[in-house]
Amino acid sequence: MSRFRRIVVRRPGGYERLEFEDVERPRLEEGQVRIAVEAIGVNYADCVTRMGLYASARHYVGYPITPGFEVAGRIVEAGPGVDPGRVGEPVYAVTRFFGYATEVVVPAHQAFVRPEGLPAARAAALPVAFFTAWYGLHVLGGVRAGMSVLVHSAAGGVGGMLAALGKAAGARVIGLVGRPEKVEVARAMGATKVLVRTKDWARRAREASPRGFDVVLDATGVDTLRDSYGLLAPMGRLVVYGFHSMLPKGRGRPNPLALAWKYLRTPRFSPLDMTTTNRSVLAFNLSYLFDATDLLAEGAARLGEGVESGWFAAQPVTVLPFEDVALAHRRLESGDTVGKLVLVTENAGVPSEAGSPTRAHHGGQRRGSAARIRPAGGGWAGACLCRRRSPWTMERPCPEPSNRPIRSCSRRACPWSRRRRFPYLSRARSRPSSAGPRDSCGRARRRGSPRTRWCSPSTISPGGGSSRRGPSGGPTSPWSSSPTPRGGRPRDGSCGCGPAR
Ligand SMILES: NC(=O)c1ccc[n+]([C@@H]2O[C@H](COP(=O)([O-])OP(=O)(O)OC[C@H]3O[C@@H](n4cnc5c(N)ncnc54)[C@H](OP(=O)(O)O)[C@@H]3O)[C@@H](O)[C@H]2O)c1
Repeated sequence: MSRFRRIVVRRPGGYERLEFEDVERPRLEEGQVRIAVEAIGVNYADCVTRMGLYASARHYVGYPITPGFEVAGRIVEAGPGVDPGRVGEPVYAVTRFFGYATEVVVPAHQAFVRPEGLPAARAAALPVAFFTAWYGLHVLGGVRAGMSVLVHSAAGGVGGMLAALGKAAGARVIGLVGRPEKVEVARAMGATKVLVRTKDWARRAREASPRGFDVVLDATGVDTLRDSYGLLAPMGRLVVYGFHSMLPKGRGRPNPLALAWKYLRTPRFSPLDMTTTNRSVLAFNLSYLFDATDLLAEGAARLGEGVESGWFAAQPVTVLPFEDVALAHRRLESGDTVGKLVLVTENAGVPSEAGSPTRAHHGGQRRGSAARIRPAGGGWAGACLCRRRSPWTMERPCPEPSNRPIRSCSRRACPWSRRRRFPYLSRARSRPSSAGPRDSCGRARRRGSPRTRWCSPSTISPGGGSSRRGPSGGPTSPWSSSPTPRGGRPRDGSCGCGPAR
């Protein structure tokens, strides 16, 4: 196969700008490896890239661009100068853009060995969050045992990792989250105390650490920076690494007037004040650090230790099929997510009975055949088949009583239908790619033929079951805050299959 699929953003804009395209495989250059991508980590920076506001995207690539900073999969080809023995190696990797693809080419030193027991979907969730947190907390923040650390968005991808790393360093981590439902996640990641971001959050943070904070890590930006700086203890450091409060939640594109207003409101810190009060402000952007190979190697070594010890296991990972990339962006921009979102590709499919790879993310088994994931296989992509199923079912039976064959739901009949909830998706899908529309098994679909889809995503939690649980103990849909009763249909009367396409 000499072609592969990737997402291309031809011009900055909303979710409809995420288009699939088939492209020729590039030839490998000296020191490069080719990875068959099984899972792709989704980062807020990818959304900012899609909107056209990510400076390093213009600096390094320009538009059209394929977003994506982290993947996991297997090396399928080694370029000149690379040990041919690496072919077949399971890896996770960082890449400066081009990660939203079924194949990625990276310098060999950016692909790290993935222990066989570490599933691709979990591995793909690690590198960006880890490198960002490690660089911000240790390299810039200089955190040490006993220090007091304030982490904004402590239940998010990077924020959760910051809480975990802060705890591992022996610091006292105070986490801030946007919603009460996120408190437990931040606590599980390592925060000693978690505050919900209300109007008086700064006063409550001061009460939690009366002498101030030694390190504050802030990616919220303009809305919180001034207070974050005010909360620093003498010799304290404010580490700034993002500005998501400049952008609207879940609207897909920025409002230029609001953006300009927020830009003008962004605090400017005076070196005079910083010197006299003995506080400092530091900032960084990971994408400019890719060329610092020694730093990357040091971070990778620390990450490897973390992977071995399994301390990241509390990080929730929500899995979606690659085709749901627009939904993943919308979810991340909603500000409601916890942990990481990961997209799984067809490469994570498992051999079918005939031995050919299935498209598990589309409901690998054909309609009418048994759709249950077999205990012996299914791959992590199989986890996408139904949100009730745990990805751990590959190793042991699903802990949910609703461990029964997965059903399909028709787009028209199912009230979860994404066409109703997200009309923009229907528009985007009406001209998905040059390959034309496809059915649930990935075959070309004739216009007018019924669109029946298998159920979609699953949330991976440390314990193996769905990490989102409603008051009844049953899992909730990753799209909705309304809980699904354990083992039954959702209370809203839908078919319980999750969104159909
Ligand atoms: N400098 C770097 O190199 C670097 C690298 C990676 C990430 N980042 C930055 O780190 C931040 C977190 O990235 P992530 O990928 O880990 O995302 P994330 O934290 O998993 O998700 C974003 C979180 O930000 C909070 N938020 C506050 N205002 C928001 C808004 N207007 N829109 C959306 N979310 C909002 C929400 O949490 P709460 O409501 O709980 O606060 C939301 O869950 C982003 O700003 C990103 O740009 C920077």
